Amino acid sequence: MAAQGARAPPLPGDGQATSRLLVNYQEPYRSQILDYLFKPNFGASLHILKVEIGGDGQSTDGTEPSHMHYENDENYFRGYEWWLMKEAKKRNPKIKLIGLPWTFPAWVGKGENWPYDYPDVTVYYIISWILGAKQYHDLDIDYVGIWNERAFSSKYIKVLRQSLDRLGLRNIGIIAADGDWNISKEMIVDPYLNDAVQVVGAHYPGTKTVPNAILTQKKLWSSEDYSTFNDEVGAGCWARILNQNYVNGNMTSTIAWNLVASYYEELPFGRCGLMTAQEPWSGYYRVEAPIWITAHTTQFTEPGWSYLQVDGHLEGGGSFVALTDGLGNLTIIIETMSHNHSQCIRPPLPHFSVSPQRATFYLKGSFYMVKTLQVWHSRLGFESAQSTFFQQLHPVKVWRGSFYLDLNVDEVYTLTTLKTGQKCICPDPPPSQPFPSNYKDDFNIRNPPFSEAPNFADQTGVFEYFINTSDPGDHVFTLRQVVVQRPITWSSDADQTISIIGNFQWENFTVTCDIYIEQPRDGGVFVAGRVDNGGIYVRSTKGVFFWVFADGTYRVTGDLAGEEILMKGLSGVRANAWHTLTLSIQGTSASGLLNGYPLWENVTITEPSNGWAAIGTRSFEFAQFDNFHVEAS
Ligand code: GAL
Ligand code: CA
Repeated sequence: MAAQGARAPPLPGDGQATSRLLVNYQEPYRSQILDYLFKPNFGASLHILKVEIGGDGQSTDGTEPSHMHYENDENYFRGYEWWLMKEAKKRNPKIKLIGLPWTFPAWVGKGENWPYDYPDVTVYYIISWILGAKQYHDLDIDYVGIWNERAFSSKYIKVLRQSLDRLGLRNIGIIAADGDWNISKEMIVDPYLNDAVQVVGAHYPGTKTVPNAILTQKKLWSSEDYSTFNDEVGAGCWARILNQNYVNGNMTSTIAWNLVASYYEELPFGRCGLMTAQEPWSGYYRVEAPIWITAHTTQFTEPGWSYLQVDGHLEGGGSFVALTDGLGNLTIIIETMSHNHSQCIRPPLPHFSVSPQRATFYLKGSFYMVKTLQVWHSRLGFESAQSTFFQQLHPVKVWRGSFYLDLNVDEVYTLTTLKTGQKCICPDPPPSQPFPSNYKDDFNIRNPPFSEAPNFADQTGVFEYFINTSDPGDHVFTLRQVVVQRPITWSSDADQTISIIGNFQWENFTVTCDIYIEQPRDGGVFVAGRVDNGGIYVRSTKGVFFWVFADGTYRVTGDLAGEEILMKGLSGVRANAWHTLTLSIQGTSASGLLNGYPLWENVTITEPSNGWAAIGTRSFEFAQFDNFHVEAS
């Protein structure tokens, strides 16, 4: 192999509603998890962190709050992405940051479910986020995307580029369009669009690109990939695409969805993250196989390294890539993943075969002088075989530029001139525990570190800590639903708002919560149990929902949409007053209390049999919640 100018290199990361539970871990566990992800030469040593630019809408496993809920609103302390970016930078100042929106607050589209009618408004919104990152958190954003897996607009991209340039943000690259490769077709006939875009990013490309993308002469990235259950097969998927996205598709970066599975496992795509940290209440987490697969590339390369241009297909199946820092260092990563042990969630994987083989490598040019290479090895075990991850083996001697390796199936090797690799021997986290069966939150916190209350996972709308300055005493600190217009959606947000909490296995509940309807006439709120769905499926969520409305009525429904009415009547509830709702579900029977007095009882519940607790509102409206308490089993 001979060094030729190639491109900037790899790799992964990706925030999103997927890191929701991570922030609530106690120390030292939270720092341990962050170290496994970001600390150089420790675990995954990630090179890139891509985060969602929260837009108040559902983006797969929840909603993330926007920095601008309303047109005249700005707040750069909502959600956890700012914190996550700072924690990443603290550990690795060289980590690259990417921001990408999934959804936008309604005002960005002036009421249309579309972000491109007013490109100046959308650009203002996105650039505010970039400037806020710098001003309030001293974070330099490196790349910005357009609209995740949705249409792009050339007009918008050009206005975004011009505005970034005008503000002196020439260093910020635009990634487009985070979907298929089709934007490249327009780029090659539109030089202005081509100039505006720095990276052509495609999702789940199946390691292949298209001729038009190559014609753009831009960096090609798999800007979202993986999203596979993080067991051994997930690790196999990840090892294969990390190499083959370059070998087959010329892509020099591969970004994993998602960074860390820190959301309730029964939400869509449970455990499809590089590691698992979904129990802040116990401190338990798992460093899964994909972390060590990542380390094979990330611990031995850095942004700025170049791929050597070689044919990376191995004769017996599998692949290798070779990278250099241009200063004499060389890193070779080899993978021999078999078909059935490396399937990703998408796209379908065409058949291929891999067999044990002896692979001989010839180092040419300046690398002819290399005498030894450090060796790191992983083997994925299936059936009864044990996996081994990221073990350092004896260095190989290179004789006259040549060496060989006997490769087995489902292995990863890194051969490198770098001696910096490390696999930490870290203490085990505490044992796994279910969500506490008796859980309370009075939201009485003056300076919360985060805008969201622990363990509540918003699925439509956004629930924030709130201070009622004029309250006489009992409800100064509350939780408030703050999205008052349906956002520009990415998936099917419900028409109601909802935040879930607890243990999906719960069957019997007593959920109590003080509630305050703010919207007169048609406002309404609910508490619920056995809530059986969320994420992109939130619209079809079932459960037992106890609603009260500002018009003085109540309802019990079997679904969030409110179509399946189990009971209704008068309650005397009104807006702008505090009331206490209690929902009790025992076996097949449910009952409800208002302010401690029975309001309805003996409602028969057959389905669902289990699920989370939840609170929410009838529509996109302001409402407050206080003294939440669930006892369940
Ligand atoms: C992607 C999407 C992500 C997530 C993922 C799940 O297409 O961009 O937000 O939904 O699928 O596999
Ligand atoms: Ca309170």
